Amino acid sequence: QQTLYFSRHGESEFNVIGRIGGDAPLSPRGRIYAQALAKHVHALNLPSLQVWTSTLQRTKATAAGIQAPQLHLHELDEIYSGDCECLTYEELAEKFPRELALRDHEKLKYRYPRGESYIDVMQRLVPLLQQYECETNILTVSHQAVLRCILGYFLDVPSEEIPYFHVPLHTIIKLTLHGYSYTMETVKMPI
Ligand code: F6P
Repeated sequence: QQTLYFSRHGESEFNVIGRIGGDAPLSPRGRIYAQALAKHVHALNLPSLQVWTSTLQRTKATAAGIQAPQLHLHELDEIYSGDCECLTYEELAEKFPRELALRDHEKLKYRYPRGESYIDVMQRLVPLLQQYECETNILTVSHQAVLRCILGYFLDVPSEEIPYFHVPLHTIIKLTLHGYSYTMETVKMPI
């Protein structure tokens, strides 16, 4: 039975102050989650576990304590917000009000200036999605938008709803294949 595990990175310094994108380190709470995640995953005793993270420091630090082979993949990097990288949503509304309105109107197709859209993220994930289908016991540590796209694919979420799919911090998500469809279970860490 194929099982795949997913988690967002632990809370980052940018999550604390509401900035998007960037490459911020984990916050103290985020580091506590990283320890809890490693403990939880080791207790599962998963045969031939592999860990796939993005190339950003917050996912690498979240997975660092897990004893398993680790791959750091650009495909798993967070949606790139181009000229809007590292802004808060308030600064976005001030500096780029038209962009924010366009995004609110069509979040799936909206592409940040010199950045990516959710559709772009989905396209860069296609080769990886095919690899997942041949694997079991992979723990993926990635980011909000990317995990929305991956989980949306496996759970057959309608495309328009994918940019709004709820993927909370400090939660381990398990997908299990039954026949042709996946079921999802979540474990929220008390952090
Ligand atoms: O806020 C955390 C974050 O991962 C940002 O880096 C990213 O831009 C955002 O979430 C994606 O979520 P949304 O598409 O809802 O802005």
